[in-house]
Amino acid sequence: MKYSAYVFGGLALCLIVIVILFGKVSSLGTEVRDLNQRNDRAFATLQDSVKRAQADLAIAKESMPGLGEYMTTIQLHAGKLWFAAKASNWELSQYELDELKETMEAAKALNAEKNGVKISNVLDSVLQTQVAQLAESIKRKSPAEFQKSYDETLSACNGCHAEAGYKFIHIVRPSSPPVTNQRWEMSAK
Ligand code: HEC
Repeated sequence: MKYSAYVFGGLALCLIVIVILFGKVSSLGTEVRDLNQRNDRAFATLQDSVKRAQADLAIAKESMPGLGEYMTTIQLHAGKLWFAAKASNWELSQYELDELKETMEAAKALNAEKNGVKISNVLDSVLQTQVAQLAESIKRKSPAEFQKSYDETLSACNGCHAEAGYKFIHIVRPSSPPVTNQRWEMSAK
């Protein structure tokens, strides 16, 4: 009699433990489901922001100046440079050359390729040879050296245009200033 009471008690205890464990397992199940749902939501938000960032990047890329726009700026600085040096305004010449170099560097960063010509590589070589000589002539304040290296730079401009399939873009020495609202001579004061 006493023995069967123990067995019964033991069984009841087991049953209680099983019920508790079952409850735990099912509540864990809901927790896992909740976590999954939260993860899904976080992932969807993340996907949304990635999509938005991609769209922003596409807009930014489109509004970035292209090689043609950089070239127009290069042409303007090259024109101003000619008149600054003609007027022996070496400070302005240095400034215009720096602007020209900066624009060439910016154009380099586009990593453009035209008709199989890697534009950045050619720009780099022009910067290191012809443009470097131009800088030397300005430093030495030598009109003769300046003219020679200016012409050599223009040859390099046109050399690349021809090589890249733009032979019809031919740059020459300017015959009149690119702007009329700037003085080329050094100011008296
Ligand atoms: C490394 C090659 C390269 C060099 C060097 C180069 N150009 Fe160009 N240039 C190009 C290419 C390519 C284009 C056509 C770009 C386009 O429209 O996509 C171009 C276009 C131009 C244009 C036409 C822009 C327009 O919209 O009317 C001018 C002007 C120009 N270049 C001036 C110059 C001058 C000045 C120099 C030298 C100081 C020079 N370029 C050096 C490759 C070069």
